Amino acid sequence: MRILSGIQPSGILHIGNYFGMMRPAIELQEEGEALYFIADYHALTTLREPDALRENSRRVALDFLACGLDPDRAALFLQSDVPQVTELAWILSTVAPMGLLERAHSYKDKIARGLPASAGLFNYPVLMAADILIYNSDVVPVGRDQKQHVEITRDLAGKLNETFGEILKLPEPRIREQTQIVPGLDGQKMSKSYGNTIDIFAEEKEMRRRVMSIVTDSAPVEAPKNPDESTIFHLFSLVGSPEEIAAVRAAFEKGGTGYGEFKKQLFAKLWDYFAPMRKRRQEILARPGYIDEVLAKGAKRANAIADKVMRGVRRAVGLR
Ligand code: TRP
Repeated sequence: MRILSGIQPSGILHIGNYFGMMRPAIELQEEGEALYFIADYHALTTLREPDALRENSRRVALDFLACGLDPDRAALFLQSDVPQVTELAWILSTVAPMGLLERAHSYKDKIARGLPASAGLFNYPVLMAADILIYNSDVVPVGRDQKQHVEITRDLAGKLNETFGEILKLPEPRIREQTQIVPGLDGQKMSKSYGNTIDIFAEEKEMRRRVMSIVTDSAPVEAPKNPDESTIFHLFSLVGSPEEIAAVRAAFEKGGTGYGEFKKQLFAKLWDYFAPMRKRRQEILARPGYIDEVLAKGAKRANAIADKVMRGVRRAVGLR
């Protein structure tokens, strides 16, 4: 089974990225041949600062390794180290119906937020389809927000196969149901673009400050509180043990504990949860050249697969 996923190097990774994408991806590396890449071509649709792009890409590689990605099992590489993917994106774009792309949420949302509409933004799902299809991927672990993109990928693969014969494999999305959406400080989905994140590798003081600024209702200390409507509880249940979660749930329902106290408990749990990752991150930083080595090795593996698939595609469409 080949597992593929990508992550945009658009900024500093937060716990929404961790629970939504990174942790499931890291767990899956045990189950098959995992290929994980840093989507630097995709990032160009929104990021136009070369130094920031380079720096973010390396930082995502570092953070992924720190969080437990094992480069002896999974291949970790830069999307742009497999440039054939843009060739496949072009070929797919020639069979992609405009209407299908016009219905993509990611595009509609960005337009709605006033981002200028570049053709790159519009074609984002086509490049993502190429990312997935060029490796004959079986399973694509993604957050709920990327599900439509995987469906578009299946549509485009189907169109190419219908037109030119069975050349591409249709992948399955794998959505983590229970952690599909991690709430941010304001209760909306945690997202860099909403400014409501808790970063995985934030300094202690900053992480505490963030947790303490979680928005709550104004229930007084003595009042019973509904854990299921609380961002604090939701986040706690990602990092606590089953017993701890049950105890916090009971304390919410009983009343007598204020939100400030629950936030302190949440911060302590979060800080402990990520301690081994912080340690590994320091170890990696102490080895100069290590990240480059990992990325080069990953790119080599990815290219070997992509070259083979592209040979088949070129022949099938008549480019060879
Ligand atoms: N669009 C994905 C995101 O923003 C990143 C991505 C690019 C991706 N190509 C991919 C994810 C291929 C899975 C498979 O999160």
